[in-house]
Amino acid sequence: MGSAFVRGGVRLGGEVSANGSKYVALSALPAALLANGPVIIENLPDLSDVRVFCEILRKLGATVTFEGGIATIDPTGLKPGIADPSLVKKLRASYYLLGVLLARFGEAEVALPGGDDIGPRPIDQHLKGFRALGAETSIEHGNIKVYAEKLNGASIYLDVVSLGATVNIMLAAVLAEGQTTIVNADRGPWIIDLANMLNAMGARIFGTGTETIRIQGVKELHGCRHYIIPDQSEAATLMIATAFTGGNVLLKNIIPTHLDAITAKLRETGAVIVIHEDSVRVIGPSRPSAVNVKTLPYPGFFTDFQAPMSTMLTVAEGTSIVTETIWEERFKHLEELTKMGAKARIEGRSVFIEGVRQLSCAEVTGTDLRASASLMLAGLVADGDSLVHGIDHMDRGYERLDLKLNSLGADIKRL
Ligand code: EPU
Repeated sequence: MGSAFVRGGVRLGGEVSANGSKYVALSALPAALLANGPVIIENLPDLSDVRVFCEILRKLGATVTFEGGIATIDPTGLKPGIADPSLVKKLRASYYLLGVLLARFGEAEVALPGGDDIGPRPIDQHLKGFRALGAETSIEHGNIKVYAEKLNGASIYLDVVSLGATVNIMLAAVLAEGQTTIVNADRGPWIIDLANMLNAMGARIFGTGTETIRIQGVKELHGCRHYIIPDQSEAATLMIATAFTGGNVLLKNIIPTHLDAITAKLRETGAVIVIHEDSVRVIGPSRPSAVNVKTLPYPGFFTDFQAPMSTMLTVAEGTSIVTETIWEERFKHLEELTKMGAKARIEGRSVFIEGVRQLSCAEVTGTDLRASASLMLAGLVADGDSLVHGIDHMDRGYERLDLKLNSLGADIKRL
């Protein structure tokens, strides 16, 4: 499961760049299958989920190369068929193949997807969207099946703001006949970026970044070249790591407005944040102040920032209340942090964190992507060497976070 020794007592310093967005990568790869010619995706992060997805596309008949952050996907040889279940189960985003294959072939069969263990992960809104477009849906023998003679545009109201359902419905609707409206859509920059790519392929998508997205169906899509936006979650993790260790880091290659929520919260803890055009300098406080945090869909405080943020609050002065409204089991890192002396009391969807002066080094295990990264950050400020297990989870969403932290003065050794 991958482990690393993390030396405690470091202060991060220097300069580091953010990678391309994981969310855009994992939706852009399947989206490329909608084209009738090659699609080139640049700034693709080298994540294990990205590599698995490339393999899934190859097995479906597409030609895929991925090197130096650039992927070329030629979907000309794509055939209808069942995506390899053993690979599909390794990642959540494989369910985007439902929208894509439904749009291309009028049918799709995909195993129920995998992903982090962070509480129930229903897909009812995805299926509701497909049905509104005219598809029949069923779940049989652990596979999701969708089928449609023809897809027609429709108005779809999402009961919850869902990144995945917004993407999946967009992917299915771009080739449907007529106009589709998604109401209560996800407003994140990842949706805007995916729509930019699809529009460069000839799609007609309007209103992304607002809660109402309109998609005017087109007959076919062509190849394009797309450069992916920087990853907010990785950038936020590096900002928190800097503040946590009382460091001073220039984080480059980011879009600062996408990080407004974390910037505001870190400032509340006492960090100094200087914003430039495409970079931010973070200067950590000598000891962070306690703050309250509530996770919300974008532009609110994002759930993926919650684990590293609540980890930092374990050493804050005072008591913080962190409320997780998106994933009900996303506090597992805090249970693990009690081994390092953290004081956290979980009550339903909130956790009360009473800050301690110093975390003690310990052997801990991360059970999901953000949890593993957060435990690594905790190791950086502990009073000795910690052993963090579950690092392979981290590789699903961060491109060698350990090496990035080492380039800033950390001492992390993977076993
Ligand atoms: N939801 C439903 N029904 C649905 C879909 C979602 O009730 O059909 C609920 C979920 O249970 C959750 C909320 O809606 O409470 C938001 O879920 P969403 O669909 O937005 O999540 P997702 O698409 O499955 C993606 C990211 C997650 C990230 C969430 C933030 C990928 C592969 N995953 O998941 O990333 O936390 O959006 O909304 O894009 C991570 O990177 O650490 C991670 C878990």
